[in-house]
Amino acid sequence: MQKRGVFMMHQEEMPAMSYPHEPLLDGLTPRLHSLAATLRREAAINQAIAEADPLGADGAFLRLPGLNERHDTEGIRRALEQAVAQAQSLPGRNFIHCNAAIRDLSMFGASLVRFGIEPADCVPGFSEALLALSADVAAQIPRDSFIDYTSRNPGNERERTFTSLPQERVFIDSLRRGMSSLDSCLANMLTACTFPISRQEFATCLHATTASFQMMIDSIVQVKRGITPEVFTHHIRPFFEPFRVGDRAFSAPSGAEMPILNIDQIIWGADCVDELYTTYFRANIIRLPAIYQEISQTFAGQKSLMTMLKDRLASAISLSHGERRSIQELHHLLTRMYTFRMPHYKVAEENVLLRQQEWDGGQEVKGSSGFGLLETKYVLDQTIKYRQITSQALTGWKID
Ligand code: HEM
Repeated sequence: MQKRGVFMMHQEEMPAMSYPHEPLLDGLTPRLHSLAATLRREAAINQAIAEADPLGADGAFLRLPGLNERHDTEGIRRALEQAVAQAQSLPGRNFIHCNAAIRDLSMFGASLVRFGIEPADCVPGFSEALLALSADVAAQIPRDSFIDYTSRNPGNERERTFTSLPQERVFIDSLRRGMSSLDSCLANMLTACTFPISRQEFATCLHATTASFQMMIDSIVQVKRGITPEVFTHHIRPFFEPFRVGDRAFSAPSGAEMPILNIDQIIWGADCVDELYTTYFRANIIRLPAIYQEISQTFAGQKSLMTMLKDRLASAISLSHGERRSIQELHHLLTRMYTFRMPHYKVAEENVLLRQQEWDGGQEVKGSSGFGLLETKYVLDQTIKYRQITSQALTGWKID
């Protein structure tokens, strides 16, 4: 049987002198196709969860921004109490309904925490309801995650928001569109990995990945223009604090839970052993739906694309036309990721600096994930570093 891998050449393209190479995902092609197909179905699941209102909470969500703006914690507590009662009598273990219920209970809970009130302390059954619902859907954490606030949040008049600010809707819309573009990027990357790098199909799939990534850049531009650091820091960020479920606190949703995690893993992270990265990756990937975790397990322990590229460049054989074409596409993708990450890092930094100034600079400021800016800077630096390698590969420079 012919071995297949990303850097595997086809027989007809084999140079006369062979060089040592190892296939990236030898024998995994059927699995990659199946993961890509499952991922493509994920949008329909998110849509169904967005449409669901199993706790009958649509009306309460129309009132939530007003309650938050008036600091009416008793009103929020009552809304949460009613939602918990509904959750306790939810019939069956319907995956869609359980997820929609987790989204809704968590947003009421996050509103109370914003005013320093632990929902578990004032609403009996809050923790138990979240623990039972998350067990029913096999979620690894008993609260909402980033996908609930974005792709599983209805995009119409039923949209769940903490505030009545138009900027929060812009924020959700940007993130939702970013999530959808990353799904498309990831599905294309999975398909790319079923071809050898020398093949046109590999380059074509990476080209499609890069095209889909453009939405991430458009989103950050939209947010940078439309949301000042003051609006984000004073009005939106306070709703993203940890709350307790049972005897443990669980952090709030954050951008660190976007499936760009999977894309980094395929490009350079699968065999990266930096502790800062592995800790960050593990903490965030478990907050994504099962399909993203399955994808990450498939790539874990494999050589990343960049390691394969470095091995290939270390051989004495010059790159074929097909390989150069694919490296060019990988270079374009890293360029687009950099074009998102650089302005995004500035936006995140501006917000952190503002919070530091307002807190007299004494306390370390963390993002809502519980991680700081260090990890965001790390992934930006990795993007820059690997982009330099693809650039050098294309210009024929020696790679260290
Ligand atoms: C006001 C706007 C924004 C601020 C203040 C902000 C802030 C942050 C912070 C502080 C982090 C570190 C992790 C954490 O939250 O704990 C982060 C991570 C992240 N955010 Fe944002 N963000 C904003 C908008 C966006 C938008 C619009 C997107 C995408 C469409 C996005 C995507 C990401 C991603 C992917 C990460 C993980 C780091 C990376 O892979 O580069 N963020 N953000």
